[in-house]
Amino acid sequence: MDHITSQKEHWKTHYTRQHALIDAIGVTKSLEYSNEVVQLQTYAHSVEGLGRVDGLTVMDAGCGWGCFTLLLHALGARAVGVDFVQGTIDTLRRLHPQITWEAADVTDAEQVKRIGHFDRVVALEVLQYSGFERTVTALWACVKPGGRLIGCVPNDRCPIATKVKARYGGLWAPVSPEEVLALPDLLPDVVAVYVKGLTFAERQEFLPLVASPWQRSISGTPNRMIFAAVRQ
Ligand SMILES: C[S@@+](CC[C@H](N)C(=O)[O-])C[C@H]1O[C@@H](n2cnc3c(N)ncnc32)[C@H](O)[C@@H]1O
Repeated sequence: MDHITSQKEHWKTHYTRQHALIDAIGVTKSLEYSNEVVQLQTYAHSVEGLGRVDGLTVMDAGCGWGCFTLLLHALGARAVGVDFVQGTIDTLRRLHPQITWEAADVTDAEQVKRIGHFDRVVALEVLQYSGFERTVTALWACVKPGGRLIGCVPNDRCPIATKVKARYGGLWAPVSPEEVLALPDLLPDVVAVYVKGLTFAERQEFLPLVASPWQRSISGTPNRMIFAAVRQ
């Protein structure tokens, strides 16, 4: 099995097993974040990168248990949640029939294209599992002119990410600041890439994460990077 296939199979099996916990944990607790406040802060900064979404079409790629998709729906977006775990998609269709949920592999350009074209595409905490370059390439093809692709990825310079990467033998692949800033070279019609760094605060009595402003560069060594690639 090649690296791409084994990465996909590993995480599909992992998240299919995780799906069994959905009723016990509930969709409001997502799968990745160290705690609920980290999750909420990540979502809040990602919403900021999306801009106004009411009336817009938005794909939530790798939606997991659909918490961010529900937030997009509440903000007035025509949201579509996409994940490759069929059981999760079936459950979300039953629980939230007012939202469109699709089972697809977000690295597969043909599958993604069949879902449609969107004003905004979001991929939060997904690209480290699916492969940064091939996934953003597939997703960018369904971003409409004037649209945006928003991602949240672990920074491969962060020592915590280095340890996690070593534990998973490359199946979990954090992303470098250079890869994020080079998106205009990888993808057609990128007019700008804005990035916000999220760093764990030394004192966390108020909030766990400290966020940088949106910038065209990355300063320091944030734990996570949220990026917004804007299409011509
Ligand atoms: C850590 S969860 C993130 C969930 C959600 N985006 C959030 O931030 O709350 C990662 C999700 O990505 C999905 N995923 C990973 N690789 C994928 C792929 N190639 N195609 C579709 N979904 C994928 C997993 O099934 C899982 O639900």
